[in-house]
Amino acid sequence: MKTAVLACALGLCAASNWGAANNVSQAFDCSMRKAAYEFGQALMHAAAPRLGAFEALYWALDLASDDCKVELPAGAASNAMRTQFSEARLLSEADDDTVFVCVRGDDEGDGSYNSPLRTLRAAVDLATSKSSKRVVLRGGTHYLAETLLLNAPHSGITIEGHAGEDAVLSGGVELQDLKWTSVEASDASSDASLNVYVADVTGVDDVPGLQIGGARLTRARYPNLPGGVEVSPGYDAMIPADAAQWTPPQFEKFGKPTFYTDEDKETLRNNTPDGWFQRYMVGVGGLCNVYDPPVSYWCSEHPSGGGAFAFRTPSGVALDASKVLPNAPYKDASTAVFFVWRPNRWANWMFETSNVVADKGMLNFTFGRGGHQGARGNDEGGDFFVENVLEELDHPGEFFYDSKSKKLYVAHNGTGPPPTQGVVVPKLRVLVNASGTQWGPVRGVTLKDLEFRSTRSTFMDAHAVPSAGDWALERTAAVFLQGTEKFTVDGCAFDRLDGNGMMVSGYNRNATIKDSDFSFIGGTAIAAWGYTNETKIDPGRPGVVNLDYPKAGVDGTDGEHPRYTSVVGNTAREVGLYEKQASFFMQAKTAASTVSGNVFFNGPRAGINMNDGFGGGDEVSRNLVFSTCRESGDHGPFNSWDREPYLTSQRTGKPSMVMQWRKIRQNFFIDNYSPQENVDNDDGSAYYKTFKNFLVYGNNGMKNDYGGHDNEHFENVYAFPQSVIGVSDTLKGHEDKFFRNKCVLTSNDVGKPQCGEPFTKMYSNEYFTKDGTVNECGHSLQDLQKKKPDHEVNSTVDKFPSDETILKWAKDAIGF
Ligand SMILES: *[C@@H]1O[C@H](CO)[C@@H](O)[C@H](O)[C@H]1NC(C)=O
Ligand SMILES: *[C@@H]1O[C@H](CO)[C@@H](O)[C@H](O)[C@H]1NC(C)=O
Ligand SMILES: *[C@@H]1O[C@H](CO)[C@@H](O)[C@H](O)[C@H]1NC(C)=O
Ligand SMILES: *[C@@H]1O[C@H](CO)[C@@H](O)[C@H](O)[C@H]1NC(C)=O
Ligand SMILES: *[C@@H]1O[C@H](CO)[C@@H](O)[C@H](O)[C@H]1NC(C)=O
Ligand SMILES: *[C@@H]1O[C@H](CO)[C@@H](O)[C@H](O)[C@H]1NC(C)=O
Repeated sequence: MKTAVLACALGLCAASNWGAANNVSQAFDCSMRKAAYEFGQALMHAAAPRLGAFEALYWALDLASDDCKVELPAGAASNAMRTQFSEARLLSEADDDTVFVCVRGDDEGDGSYNSPLRTLRAAVDLATSKSSKRVVLRGGTHYLAETLLLNAPHSGITIEGHAGEDAVLSGGVELQDLKWTSVEASDASSDASLNVYVADVTGVDDVPGLQIGGARLTRARYPNLPGGVEVSPGYDAMIPADAAQWTPPQFEKFGKPTFYTDEDKETLRNNTPDGWFQRYMVGVGGLCNVYDPPVSYWCSEHPSGGGAFAFRTPSGVALDASKVLPNAPYKDASTAVFFVWRPNRWANWMFETSNVVADKGMLNFTFGRGGHQGARGNDEGGDFFVENVLEELDHPGEFFYDSKSKKLYVAHNGTGPPPTQGVVVPKLRVLVNASGTQWGPVRGVTLKDLEFRSTRSTFMDAHAVPSAGDWALERTAAVFLQGTEKFTVDGCAFDRLDGNGMMVSGYNRNATIKDSDFSFIGGTAIAAWGYTNETKIDPGRPGVVNLDYPKAGVDGTDGEHPRYTSVVGNTAREVGLYEKQASFFMQAKTAASTVSGNVFFNGPRAGINMNDGFGGGDEVSRNLVFSTCRESGDHGPFNSWDREPYLTSQRTGKPSMVMQWRKIRQNFFIDNYSPQENVDNDDGSAYYKTFKNFLVYGNNGMKNDYGGHDNEHFENVYAFPQSVIGVSDTLKGHEDKFFRNKCVLTSNDVGKPQCGEPFTKMYSNEYFTKDGTVNECGHSLQDLQKKKPDHEVNSTVDKFPSDETILKWAKDAIGF
């Protein structure tokens, strides 16, 4: 019992999804989870030990469960995520060039250790003129009044937290002079047992989120979230899609889009059968006017791929209130915000309400702003919930802000009134904005040992469709980089940020994000997102007039994208609390990223996402990733699409329509929620080498579809998927390859390779099944090898190996 309570306090008490669901023995499942814990700890200790026994990982792997019963290592209990700061670099006070900042400092001071400044802004400006260019923040919460903007003249600066102290940069405003008054339950709610209080709020214009004692409250909603917004409800806490009548899209609302399809011979990518994804194409305007800039592959004339049709969303929803909304009627339903899954749970759309009509017990809402948080459309909505209505304040830990009366209501989860101190409203969207250009970059800035907290939500802000994957995204984050070189984030914590954690946008070279921890993030932990000239202007690049648009939309040779981004030795967990199409790391129009040695777990959708095949040359290696797609379908720890070709010089230094190979190697991936695969190479994905990975569960191993090709899986260890291959037709010379893999299958079928010319190239694989037999292409393996002697050469089948054997193979492949 005690352990369960502790786990909940860490936000980890959502249903786990281990072993049994995959028909795998508990013994294997437990040994595998222990191995994951060992690997995760080893990764975090590789550089500088900072997470102790990595307690959050212990709970996420459910190691205290009856079937596993691993003791939590001593000394771990107090270590939620990151409380230990490196003591190794003790500050030299003699370094009198350093500029110090203290919460109670004074900008009139000289910035020395004994006369620290108060604001980071003043400190950075002062340090810029000093030789060490070093700013040190003392411990405590530094509430930022404005975003810290860093430009080219700030190149070379280091901003760091004082060793052994916890220096927090907060985007929130701490509410002052709070006077809580108890509210008669009838005012706010019909539940007399609720502990509801109200206070007048001054000093902020809006209360889009609320944090008390460092953790979030949940904006009043129906259905309730049992554990609050920081605990994933899985598939629960939704009104089912079919309880609603969706008002169809207003197709004519913004007029018709303008279509553009590239016809240039030079930029044809003709390496797929049936013409799949050979041409760059977009539509501008039309229903894509919900985006800024208003352009998307999904508004083009002929979008194609899995479930493809042009973008649209429903324009409203009508509900039988007496059946669907037990707390209705609402005194003011116009504040309602709808969070609606796109059917199939590919993303969630948020909509404001522009009009409500009550008629014969029906509430008919017309949607206002919104529906721009994903790139894929539908006529109807999926499962949904309603938020931001006073009558829905009926669960401990919920809040509601009445913007007309400026009153804040809190259903306090505890006895007596809520505290009057430490009540924080997230206000700033961006804490640090390093902005330069390719021609005048911000160079060599380092952020070290800092904690970033309490930025406000950005899900209603402008989003754009970064390329032809399924994503739409807001070009903003707590730490925003654009036009930088060698920017380093080292040993920082990103916690309780309501938007994205980090955004590496446009021209960036060699940005490094290392040994940092991302937790409880509203959107994506880290995103990298470049530009091509699709429209005349882009709000992300104010003052720039793009040349040759949309023709140059295909052309990435102007270098306006992130390259050589390193994401190394980080942890990220509990992401996508608001936006469900969120990942630990995602990239679009970005090349040559290294994502290595990270531990990622607990996310609503894919763990790592590559939205396109721009440039390539990326490496995803030695990561532990699990408990992804907890609230959605398909995908798994890794997902990619490649529906739009791009011209880049990444592969050979010369412009090419073919990307450099991407490597996915030596990862420990567990597909414990998704029904698909650990490495989901979706729609058109090509040029992936996936090798020496330990790939646990899922239905499938290697995937290629809709023209995907040149996909290679080798020397992997697959533990208990149903089958290991499901690929589509390729051109000759572009066959997929599957070799030297060890495949422990729950079914007796290898899956769906290409069984006609051109055959998938398969050899030297070792298959293991319960009874020691396996089928491929409609024959037993042995018969197939006789019939087609150059196929599956040296491949074998046997009965299941022992659990120890499987884990030994895994450790040998990954190297731990
Ligand atoms: C598990 O076994 C049951 C009963 O044999 C079967 O219906 C189900 O499809 C299996 N699930 C998986 C993921 O193999
Ligand atoms: C309320 O507080 C209790 C005790 O701290 C905690 O277990 C529970 O999860 C909280 N509920 C919500 C909805 O936050
Ligand atoms: C809801 O209102 C919209 C127009 O605002 C209308 O088109 C739709 O039919 C109404 N839905 C129902 C179920 O009455
Ligand atoms: C960052 O700063 C630049 C320059 O002032 C500005 O144009 C851009 O909009 C800012 N980005 C964000 C995300 O705030
Ligand atoms: C950036 O990284 C690449 C690849 O590691 C390297 O070749 C290049 O020299 C680096 N550039 C700088 C300025 O460090
Ligand atoms: C895109 O527009 C920018 C800004 O005008 C220009 O510098 C760049 O060369 C253009 N890129 C291409 C590929 O035309």
